Amino acid sequence: LSSIRVPVDSVEPGTQITVKWLGKPVFIRRRTTPEIEAAEQVDVSSLPDPLARNANIEDGAPGTDDNRILTPPEGSDSAHGEWLVMMGVCTHLGCVPLGDGAGDFGGWFCPCHGSHYDTAGRIRKGPAPENLPVPPAEFVDASTIKLG
Ligand code: FES
Repeated sequence: LSSIRVPVDSVEPGTQITVKWLGKPVFIRRRTTPEIEAAEQVDVSSLPDPLARNANIEDGAPGTDDNRILTPPEGSDSAHGEWLVMMGVCTHLGCVPLGDGAGDFGGWFCPCHGSHYDTAGRIRKGPAPENLPVPPAEFVDASTIKLG
């Protein structure tokens, strides 16, 4: 009951969709190569929140880009690192951040009090204490993501 299936075959690189899951927005972004490269180059030890915050891997894992992404199944035409799924809820006081390259780090920007998230949804600047959390998610086939 608490899981939903989201078709993502029409999501082009450089775009995202927002779906509702458990009453909250979830961002599903298909990242471009420059977005992926920018996220991979970040030194995790320099991050305000160095943890992955990913419900699909072990607690306390470091917030590398690889620990944030959702990997599509074998045979998919998606490049490694293209898919990023996370809650669209600012970890400061819960506003919905703006996406599509918003903010100083080309990811998401929360207009409520000015939190900037990078292209992996990690907090980089502003009052938000934690990275945008990655919910339980998996590809059930090459074009469908299951949340929950
Ligand atoms: Fe996002 Fe305050 S709720 S910065």
